[in-house]
Amino acid sequence: MNKQSVVLFFCHVLLLAGMSFSHSTCTGYWTLLQDAMGISAMHMQLLHNDRVVMFDGTDLGPSNVSFPKAKCSRIYNGRRIGFDCTTHSVEYDVATNSFRPLAIQSSMWCSSGGAVHYGALVQTGGFKAGDRTVRILKPCRGCDWEEIPMGLLTRRWYATNHILPDGSQIIVGGRNSFSYEFFPKPASFYWHLAETKSAAKAYSLPFLVQTNDGETENNLYPFVFLHIDGSLFIFANNRAILFDYSKNRVLKAFPEIRGGNPRNYPSTGSAVMLPLDLQAKSIEVEVMICGGAPKGAHIKARNGVFVKALKTCARIKITSPNPKWLIEIMPLPRVMGDMLLLPNGNVLLINGGSFGTAGWELGRKPVLNPVLYRPNKPPGARFEMNAPSKIPRMYHSTAILLRDGRILVGGSNPHPVYNFSGALFPTELSIEAFHPSYLDPQFLALRPTILTPWSQMMLLHGQTFKVEFTVIDELDPTAVSVTMLAPPFNTHSFSMNQRLLVLGVGNVTTNIWPDLKYEVEVSAPVGSNIAPPGFYLLFVVHQCIPSEGIWIQILG
Ligand SMILES: *[C@@H]1O[C@H](CO)[C@@H](O)[C@H](O)[C@H]1NC(C)=O
Ligand SMILES: *[C@@H]1O[C@H](CO)[C@@H](O)[C@H](O)[C@H]1NC(C)=O
Ligand SMILES: *[C@@H]1O[C@H](CO)[C@@H](O)[C@H](O)[C@H]1NC(C)=O
Repeated sequence: MNKQSVVLFFCHVLLLAGMSFSHSTCTGYWTLLQDAMGISAMHMQLLHNDRVVMFDGTDLGPSNVSFPKAKCSRIYNGRRIGFDCTTHSVEYDVATNSFRPLAIQSSMWCSSGGAVHYGALVQTGGFKAGDRTVRILKPCRGCDWEEIPMGLLTRRWYATNHILPDGSQIIVGGRNSFSYEFFPKPASFYWHLAETKSAAKAYSLPFLVQTNDGETENNLYPFVFLHIDGSLFIFANNRAILFDYSKNRVLKAFPEIRGGNPRNYPSTGSAVMLPLDLQAKSIEVEVMICGGAPKGAHIKARNGVFVKALKTCARIKITSPNPKWLIEIMPLPRVMGDMLLLPNGNVLLINGGSFGTAGWELGRKPVLNPVLYRPNKPPGARFEMNAPSKIPRMYHSTAILLRDGRILVGGSNPHPVYNFSGALFPTELSIEAFHPSYLDPQFLALRPTILTPWSQMMLLHGQTFKVEFTVIDELDPTAVSVTMLAPPFNTHSFSMNQRLLVLGVGNVTTNIWPDLKYEVEVSAPVGSNIAPPGFYLLFVVHQCIPSEGIWIQILG
């Protein structure tokens, strides 16, 4: 089989499998990685050892991963809070496609987190005994969760975290928590600049009261992005503010998205900050929000009436003096979808349903086709349909980018306990990989391979360094870019800390002897507002085809 027919082969397999696939293009393909991983992946984070931490909650009854006997009793904060011999967290090893159970005591159901500057996952909040807990998982062989009871000042359930330029995390909102706080707490944090964040307290955020639709809420898991001036862009429900967290001050209020329909949990849409082009004279920052559910859809779904999801995306240039939302229409409506930044600067919309809302049993008609959005194409030519999966990924599903360019997809459990029979969308323990079209065999000869630097290289802000790479086919030196991605924490359709930087590069030079290879000088991003300290994936992109990534660490 030649390369082209391999691609066609995948399309035909999907067609023969009876998928609703009515579009002439068939881009990308799917592979099943694990049939039953034992837990349903409600939260996911890739760490810089190429392990993916996954978990759901300990309130969901027994999982399908057994626990070492000695740990059957869950003792938390000196109290026995549960007894079962299963666990709800695993560490997935991408290279070997295997997983190991991790021990977790307090419930981290519907929580938030982020990978911090030294590489650990610092995860916060959850449910009941876990709603004020902070949990840390370091990326090391055999390591397990450390839990800090009462690590938060207030309960955080359905909150959003973001890594700040000083290396700490801000935790914004949560059910009935109209405030924000920091972890580590400023006083105990050596990195902290005393003048910016005073006492260890939760600061009120009236915007979260103003955007709360009462019983329906519609502003949980707010979309939070670190702006390049150090302030935060916070979107909740149908509108956004620019916020100075160090002075607890709203700097700017953005207009409502036309129509006023809600985009946050449970009317769950998704959002990304589009790639930041650091080569530009002045960096433009754009945020894009896609999908969600019309006003009133959540209450209707609770009463058995499933309204069609939103088909619109709204894009805003937050660096513009007069920012406006520009509306674009997706090929498919989507609620509970995920928006992921790909290494070549495109955005993938994946997972979710086309009717109803988030919440137990409230979504209908899975959207099986991912859709690619190409932000730099002219309007009208930006969306592209991709090949469908066979597995519905409804409420509590996840997706993240892996170092090799595949998208890891898991989860889907719209039930209060694991339910494998009789339910409309049974609890999914499987994980799959979506291979975007840049991984199609026909593009292999264009795909760069990075030779140096070695993975885990440390860099300072503004440092220049050389990247050496090869390409099988002829290189087009005018079509080479270098990008850097902060690996996000994904849950409930939002990828916290997701950030793609297009780095400044010099001219590509060619070295013919002893082997044909190319070299390009690259500038690391300048300043922690643009790139908070931590681990990033670095890619060389040639004619839109990204290399495998390497890990680099930006030092604070
Ligand atoms: C999970 O475990 C339950 C109970 O042992 C079993 O009935 C079910 O088939 C398992 N599900 C999967 C997908 O392995
Ligand atoms: C699974 O869902 C079905 C349909 O709603 C329900 O009848 C059944 O009781 C559920 N099973 C469990 C274990 O909750
Ligand atoms: C890069 O190439 C361009 C076009 O060939 C040339 O004008 C420019 O001087 C080169 N820059 C460097 C730093 O070599």
